[in-house]
Amino acid sequence: MSPRTPLIAGNWKMHKTLAEAEALIGALLPRVSTADGVDVAICPPFLALQAMVDSTRGSRVQVYAQNMHHADHGAFTGEVSPPMLDELEVRGVILGHSERRELFGESDRELALKLPAALQAGLVPILCVGETESERDAGETERKLRRQVQEDLEGVPESRLGEVVIAYEPIWAIGTGKVAAAEQAQEAIAFVRALVADRSREQAERTRVLYGGSVKPEHAAELLALPDVDGALVGGASLDAESFASIVAAAV
Ligand code: 13P
Repeated sequence: MSPRTPLIAGNWKMHKTLAEAEALIGALLPRVSTADGVDVAICPPFLALQAMVDSTRGSRVQVYAQNMHHADHGAFTGEVSPPMLDELEVRGVILGHSERRELFGESDRELALKLPAALQAGLVPILCVGETESERDAGETERKLRRQVQEDLEGVPESRLGEVVIAYEPIWAIGTGKVAAAEQAQEAIAFVRALVADRSREQAERTRVLYGGSVKPEHAAELLALPDVDGALVGGASLDAESFASIVAAAV
């Protein structure tokens, strides 16, 4: 048995106004209240964080942000800092999502600062890594994953590596309906864990590695049963209470 508690996290991306977020969490809470042995998280937009923390207090659902700056404060217009998230009682933060890397120029160098900053502020980071379709076709998947995992975790002390969650999200599977085949997901995720083990075998046993990319209720159970897969980072299917709850149920 894996010592790791599975984590099912819903990345809402830029969806849900405050009123819509309240409606979604209201529908979700009763549907996941009995799901024991699995951690459940939602990652709403910044403006809904406070309301979602209030609405989920005392429930099993944790609230994560989708991004943050590495500095505690400063002249960084439009950014949000680790202590600001911590003050709201946000539990963690997604870092390095491929949409932020590709559309907003987030770099491995910045991520190497963000990861330790999140841990320092008491936030659980979910670091996203993954290859494009052309990188996979060119046999570059492992090289890409190695670079991202090694560079992005560089500033994390060895003793804290196990607190980091890593989400393997092949970019070709995000929002496309093209979910990775079970063996592709298992192979890449085992490789990610081996990269952590290169720094600390003991910590790699604690590190949760999730799969993300077109996870839907139909194939959640198969993916979540894979030996190295410790949960899922869910996009589109997390916007509907029924489908997100059935993915949570598949992890129990
Ligand atoms: P989809 O589940 O919509 O493919 O999105 C995955 C994702 O990017 C989660 O972070």
